[in-house]
Amino acid sequence: MPLFEWKPLFSVGIGSIDSQHQKLIGYMNQFYDAVQKGNAAEAKMCLGNLLRYTTTHFTEEEAMMQRAKFPGLEEHKGMHRQLLELAGKLAKTYETDPTTQNADRMASYLKTWLTNHIMGMDKKYTPSMQEHGLK
Ligand code: FEO
Repeated sequence: MPLFEWKPLFSVGIGSIDSQHQKLIGYMNQFYDAVQKGNAAEAKMCLGNLLRYTTTHFTEEEAMMQRAKFPGLEEHKGMHRQLLELAGKLAKTYETDPTTQNADRMASYLKTWLTNHIMGMDKKYTPSMQEHGLK
């Protein structure tokens, strides 16, 4: 069973960003699958892919917020930095000591982060992006 499943409720109303969020969920599920199979080497590789893609997503999302002249850009960027910092710390802990407990902590953080961030922060930029014709 995947860690996380996409639901229409998570849509921010901007197709390109929804696709990126779906890709992030895909990477999270790959990480979780590898953990479930007990394959720590694969799990570490998936985690690396996930963190790299998270950085890509944040950069692209921030560029779109800028183009949309979204007033909450700086606050949102600060949140992205915090999320990446904590994810990086948890990933390092898991990579150094790939126990089930550390994997669960990582998976739980990723799932909570994505849900809360999309629902609480990302959805705020939707009106600005739509007004600027961003898709
Ligand atoms: Fe979709 Fe602000 O991350």
